Amino acid sequence: MAEIIDLRSDTVTKPGPGMRKAMHDAEVGDDVFGDDPTINRLQERVAALLGKEAAIWTPTGTMANQIALGSFAGQGDEVICDRGAHVVNYEGGAISALWGAQSVVLDGPRGIFGPQDVTQVLRRGENDHFPRQKVVAMENTHNRGGGSVWPLQRMRAVEEVARGAGLGVHLDGARLWNAHVASGVKLTEYGAVADTVSVCLSKGLGAPAGSLVASTKERVTKMRRLRKRLGGGLRQAGVLAAAGMYALDHHIERLAEDHRNARKLAELLRELPGFSCDPREVETNLLFVDVEVKGGSRALVAAAKAQGVLFNAEGSGERIRLVTHLDVPAASIPEAVSRIRRAVASL
Ligand SMILES: Cc1ncc(COP(=O)(O)O)c(C=O)c1O
Repeated sequence: MAEIIDLRSDTVTKPGPGMRKAMHDAEVGDDVFGDDPTINRLQERVAALLGKEAAIWTPTGTMANQIALGSFAGQGDEVICDRGAHVVNYEGGAISALWGAQSVVLDGPRGIFGPQDVTQVLRRGENDHFPRQKVVAMENTHNRGGGSVWPLQRMRAVEEVARGAGLGVHLDGARLWNAHVASGVKLTEYGAVADTVSVCLSKGLGAPAGSLVASTKERVTKMRRLRKRLGGGLRQAGVLAAAGMYALDHHIERLAEDHRNARKLAELLRELPGFSCDPREVETNLLFVDVEVKGGSRALVAAAKAQGVLFNAEGSGERIRLVTHLDVPAASIPEAVSRIRRAVASL
């Protein structure tokens, strides 16, 4: 059978020879003692990229987001974010399970809310009835929003309202690299709108594992303690940090190719009967398509798998999600669409 085209997520990328060599050659030490030189270099580099004092490495984006949120919010506190946020929908209920905090969710097109949405949910004055609000979280690019990119001005406006209310600001930047490449906004500009910024190396950048949170030195010290508590203090993690270093050297600018491929995929898919999407809405590497096919989206996913192309059904509705990445070259895009066409015919 022809090679499988895997469009389920940008997390499926596998380290190539250059990355593996970097991992093989990595200088390592015990990172719980702060002795891993490669981890230390990566932390310093990411802090500098985002214009922050310090950064902390974590094995996953979930841990990065959660130690950041946990550094603001505890029992009885409140986190403000959008309804589709990863921190609320895809982290196993961690905000309440780990920190005892609750979330209040805002609506915004494609995951992007505005300052007035925050203002509307602010709790005024001291009152025994109220949870204490601690932090506003934005997600850029927005996963469930279809890889949407927050306009910088909008982020600044949200930040202003949050700060005015004495709240912290977290940025879930798992795919901030994609936002940066798509918009041309500097990473330091994004970094400046939040107290804590998480970034992932294991999505479009292609490392096998690794995320970081950048912040002040003081907050990073606090997050180190939370990371340890969650069992995220790794020892010779430099082998993974080396993959991250390689990813930063080689895989940021090329994200533009993934974005072009996603747009192309949208243009070709919308030609198929029962498929609808707007290629103009494809800002980065994530693509949602509404499908009206026999048996529904789940039958389509199964039929496509039989043709050697993988993607996911999204939510309960008739939607599919496709993600372009490092291991999907441009030539695979028309091939994927041909296979999906055959899959539809087989339903
Ligand atoms: C926006 C966003 N934040 C955080 C994460 C969590 O990353 P991880 O899977 O490494 O825990 C993801 C994963 O897809 C994501 O899309």
